[in-house]
Amino acid sequence: MRILLLGSGGREHAFAWKLSQSPACEALYIAPGNAGTQQHGTNLAINPNDFPAVKAAVLEYGVDMVICGPEEPLVLGIQDYFAADAMLKQVLFMGPSQAGAQLEGSKAFAKAFMDDQDIPTAAYREFTVDQLEDGLEYLEDQPAPYVLKADGLAAGKGVLILDSVIEAQEELRAMLEGKFGEASETVVVEEFLTGIEFSVFVFTDGKDYKVLPVAKDYKRIGAGDTGLNTGGMGSVSHPPFVDEAMMKKVEERIIKPTIEGLQVQQLGYRGVIFIGLISVEDEPFVIEYNCRMGDPETQSVFPRLKTDLVELCRATAAGELAKVEIEIDERAVASVILVAGGYPGSYEKGKVITGLENVSGSLVFHAGVREVEGQLLTNGGRVLAVTSYGDNFQDALDTSLANAAKIHFDGVYYRKDIGFDL
Ligand code: AMP
Ligand code: GLY
Repeated sequence: MRILLLGSGGREHAFAWKLSQSPACEALYIAPGNAGTQQHGTNLAINPNDFPAVKAAVLEYGVDMVICGPEEPLVLGIQDYFAADAMLKQVLFMGPSQAGAQLEGSKAFAKAFMDDQDIPTAAYREFTVDQLEDGLEYLEDQPAPYVLKADGLAAGKGVLILDSVIEAQEELRAMLEGKFGEASETVVVEEFLTGIEFSVFVFTDGKDYKVLPVAKDYKRIGAGDTGLNTGGMGSVSHPPFVDEAMMKKVEERIIKPTIEGLQVQQLGYRGVIFIGLISVEDEPFVIEYNCRMGDPETQSVFPRLKTDLVELCRATAAGELAKVEIEIDERAVASVILVAGGYPGSYEKGKVITGLENVSGSLVFHAGVREVEGQLLTNGGRVLAVTSYGDNFQDALDTSLANAAKIHFDGVYYRKDIGFDL
């Protein structure tokens, strides 16, 4: 099978690493990819949001299956573009339709979907600019802290959690008046839930579903989950507190009604549903849906997946998922993300990365890395993931940290306490 993978992050390097292990992977192209993905295939300098360019590559390279890593092309309707084009119809596409991708692309849509399906989630109200006064009043009556969510995609910045009602009211006004452009023309105001978060990944062809290993990510820049939010500083799989009893609740109360909702609403979903969950006194609630794998969870999840990823994606895209069996490596995995100094604030790119040849016993997934004349240079805030197996996550983390210490670039920073709360 000839495969085109869309995306350029650490998640996509993990995809490329795993896909390329399959005997069914005849050729792998990655658009645009990074310095890591090119170890497993051929990078193509194409922006995944440029659908005609993606089409041209599919035709030129005889691609049989497209796998979409990031959410943006899906929310923009790339699956629909493929389905509507006579020359692309035969190509398998792994990723939901635009209608299905609204689970991530519109928080208000996702909340209404959960309401319809009776799926446990935080209580909420939604407001548009005409309802600003109602919104301000509503906030007045709610207890702190206040959770405000821009309805649309806002590059991971659209969720604000505020302690003061005055600040929450100011932010609601700013959002409705265009702080995040179109994305915040509607704002969801949500009850704040207290608990511990985890990430569940479900592959579905719209009829059947398969659950991948569970993970937990760490989003804050500082030790002990302090400081600014980032795109992710590390992840572990499996977080021990997510026991069988919890997973049974997740499956019965959340996964099954989610799949049923996709069918009832005919959302045309063949792809991944990433369910961001929070355990509140041992009861699971949905924080958010995403229509793709997580980053940096994928770097810890795929190493635990024994099932052939090409076959899993093919079956998902072809509507034949019932046949696939998910086999899981029982070992624990921990990933540590090496980031550029200053991230998630301003940071410099182009720093020389050295020491990768000294890493042993860990996998290294590239994110913001590019190769220039044989030299690896930093090319983003999140640069590398160092991922290791262990008998438990602490063991796995220790190996990742020992190897992270061997890698150098000017300003390198990473958290040493991934999994601290487990
Ligand atoms: P999201 O972009 O929806 O993942 O939100 C970003 C982060 O905000 C989540 O990972 C949570 O840590 C936090 N968050 C979102 N919604 C809530 C909520 N209702 N209660 C508590 N924390 C939340
Ligand atoms: N790790 C969270 C995300 O990928 O959105």
